Amino acid sequence: MFESFEELEKGIENCNKCKLCNNRNNIVIGCGNREAKVMFIGEGPGADEDAQGEPFVGKAGKLMNQALKGLGIERDEIYIANVVKCRPPMNRNPEPDEVNSCLDYLRSQVMLVKPEIIVLLGNVALKAILGNDYSITKSRGIWIEKKGIRYMPTFHPAALLRNEQLKINFWNDLKEVKKYM
Ligand code: URA
Repeated sequence: MFESFEELEKGIENCNKCKLCNNRNNIVIGCGNREAKVMFIGEGPGADEDAQGEPFVGKAGKLMNQALKGLGIERDEIYIANVVKCRPPMNRNPEPDEVNSCLDYLRSQVMLVKPEIIVLLGNVALKAILGNDYSITKSRGIWIEKKGIRYMPTFHPAALLRNEQLKINFWNDLKEVKKYM
């Protein structure tokens, strides 16, 4: 675990703990307010994030930004990170060994930001943080409280790009988050 963001950045800069290091252009650590009350956790960088070194800057990110804006949540009032910090090839799901290699970084981020609320975007984030017993279809939209943190699992914004009908659920879940902010 890392005691500060500076330590985390130093510790991660040459990371080769898993095979995702082989094809990355940038390590995508996280962005936003390091003292945020609300943290969003996605899956892993896509092509745009890998190119720019920032999470959720591609199509899925733009959709998420629209929802945040519509709810009056500023992107720089939250902290955003991913389960894995390097892009999985062809945007496949990160494999369990890749998730496990990267979890210390995410845990350190949670410890340093100390959010009251964590929004888990999709199954990969939900299972990495709360365990394999959870699934997004059953758990989305329902607050889960653990060790003083309130978790809101919801659909990954990329899922909304594939299926527009999920947008209303995503919106309602984020509305629930906004209520507590
Ligand atoms: N999808 C994610 O899970 N994270 C990103 O940063 C971008 C797309």
